[in-house]
Amino acid sequence: MDNSTIDVDRPLIAQMPATARLRRAGDPALVGRLLAWYDANARVLPWRARKGRRPNPYHVWLSEIMLQQTTVAAVGPYFRRFIRRWPNVDALGRAEPDEVLHAWQGLGYYARARNLLRCARVVGTELGGRFPETEAELERLPGIGPYTAAAIAAIAFERPAAVVDGNVERVIARLYALEKPLPRARGRIRELAAALTPTRRPGDYAQAVMDLGSLVCTPREPACGRCPWADSCAARALGIAEELPRKPARPARPTLSAVAYVLVRDDGAVFLRRRAPTGLLGGMMEVPSSEWRDEGWTEDQARAAAPVSAPWRSLPGIVRHTFTHFHLEIRVLAGRVATAESLGDGAWAGRGRLHEFALPTVMKKVIRHAMASPPLAMDEEPANERR
Ligand code: ADE
Repeated sequence: MDNSTIDVDRPLIAQMPATARLRRAGDPALVGRLLAWYDANARVLPWRARKGRRPNPYHVWLSEIMLQQTTVAAVGPYFRRFIRRWPNVDALGRAEPDEVLHAWQGLGYYARARNLLRCARVVGTELGGRFPETEAELERLPGIGPYTAAAIAAIAFERPAAVVDGNVERVIARLYALEKPLPRARGRIRELAAALTPTRRPGDYAQAVMDLGSLVCTPREPACGRCPWADSCAARALGIAEELPRKPARPARPTLSAVAYVLVRDDGAVFLRRRAPTGLLGGMMEVPSSEWRDEGWTEDQARAAAPVSAPWRSLPGIVRHTFTHFHLEIRVLAGRVATAESLGDGAWAGRGRLHEFALPTVMKKVIRHAMASPPLAMDEEPANERR
């Protein structure tokens, strides 16, 4: 670095070229401080092995799949229920798809549940019940991408894999004061994270960075006073920790519109059908619904799109649900039919039995709305929401 360019009011680390900063990575002192912090502060989580015990690869894999788009707090009860019901990967591989989808209900992103079962079948039948240990082999399994492969390799098999999730991105972006916004900064973050990953205790190290991101280096109001890396953190020295990582402006989520048709038999049963196997909520049950489109639905259009002819009544109010990439507004039509009516493909969920079906949250909202509306007002409710 040329002395003439040094700004004495800014920390040297933040003024070094990126290559010089990378040389600092892999720093055993940094790693040592983090591991010491982890030994004292690690979260007790149901899938974590107790100190001195070998982690169970099935538990590590299952938890990592569940945690892909869901918070640690929400995953806990699901994880416990899964391992009680399916104590190992062979047992899970023998489950029926509907049982797994049903047990997954409420966790969202149901493609994960379908891949979970596919993966359990491959590991159970083709790999003799043993998970592979390298990132490359793990990535060949259904539902396992680069992040999850690295997490399993590091946590379950002590491989020095660089585990980079959103928490780790934030920690690294701050440690090195990376100004480039995400996602463009990802390549650089990965390089720095990989260089920092130790060969000793890589599993603990991976979990330590994740815990640091969750407990200390939080998106807002990071607790720098409790951070084992505070003294080395370039963003803290610059007073910009809370601003990093920078993000590009997020495009607004569009709002789509749909119509749902809640058909109730005289005996209180509700008509359900299965959604197409692929795509959003693929393979889950639903009350019949229209296309989800940009344009709203007029009353006449809603009636014309009904899957069967019935004395439909338009219910007051709109059901709203937000998915990752869009909001959905659902107008609900309700109809009653005689007990004997046959509707072809689908199932009548008998009164009090809705909870037996793998209904996604959005459909539970629709049914709850219908059951609470005057034309139907019944005392049945779908199973309680967990999230
Ligand atoms: N988030 C994803 N995987 C995690 C893990 N193993 N520990 C803590 N947080 C996580």
